[in-house]
Amino acid sequence: MTIPFIKTAVIGHPIHHSKSPLIHNHWIAQHGLSGLYEAIDIAPDELKQKTQQLIDDGYAGFNATVPHKESIFKLCSTHDKAAENIGAVNTVIIRDGKMHGRNTDGFGFIHNIKSAAKNFDFTAGPAYVLGAGGAARAIIHALLEESVPEIILTNRTLARAEEIRTMDTSKISLAPWQDFTPMKHANMLVNTTALGMSGKGDLPFDLTNLSKQALVTDIVYAPLHTALLKAAQERGNDTVTGIGMLLHQARPAFESWYGILPNVDETLERLVLS
Ligand code: ATR
Repeated sequence: MTIPFIKTAVIGHPIHHSKSPLIHNHWIAQHGLSGLYEAIDIAPDELKQKTQQLIDDGYAGFNATVPHKESIFKLCSTHDKAAENIGAVNTVIIRDGKMHGRNTDGFGFIHNIKSAAKNFDFTAGPAYVLGAGGAARAIIHALLEESVPEIILTNRTLARAEEIRTMDTSKISLAPWQDFTPMKHANMLVNTTALGMSGKGDLPFDLTNLSKQALVTDIVYAPLHTALLKAAQERGNDTVTGIGMLLHQARPAFESWYGILPNVDETLERLVLS
């Protein structure tokens, strides 16, 4: 019996910086599978034609990253619940010549917290979310699924936060970006903005009023220990770095194509951070 060679990829523009090939090819080798995960640069105006080429070339599926997550959603025949609610797809499964969209970003966020902060209780109090881009949408959808009782959302551009609030107006409230301070009763503080990333500047908030019980997490992972996480650690808050979200979101995607739900271990984390 010949073992099928399973081709997968990540598509984006640009794509050379992507860590996804490292992650998936590590799991392909670890599990003794036959396959390859590539990085393929696709410009926005070529998306339809180039993804049809992937279908014709027999790919099992692919991940989609910036700037394709919303446009690929429209090209998929079906969507899972998370993709439907978020309006964006990060994982495509190709079956019978059709594309089926999933969104595993929220899974990645939640499982990173669950594995790094085992006793954390999502239901214990409000979550403060900084930022209202694509990542925030996925994270807020996942927090609602985890029965977070209240979400306080702030963003530089208020209109984007207002849009996200329509996901659940009874649980999500908005706070002004100017002079924002995370409050005493916070159970969690999440940065989903690009601030804190090398070269982007830091968040303009101070943590004076933040509850010492709040878990602080950042989706930025370069640097791994952002200014936000360092400030939180110095005042005694528990913190979770962002690298695990990237690793955990890849797990259900890999399972969709290769039939095995892989684990995140220290070897993989070191590989991706090196
Ligand atoms: P992603 O898909 O990673 O979430 P995005 O949709 O471009 O990317 O969202 C980036 C987030 O970082 C947004 O919340 C953005 O705020 P705006 O909606 O006001 O653009 C935030 N962000 C990026 N640069 C920022 C800056 N210099 N100051 C404040 N917020 C910033």
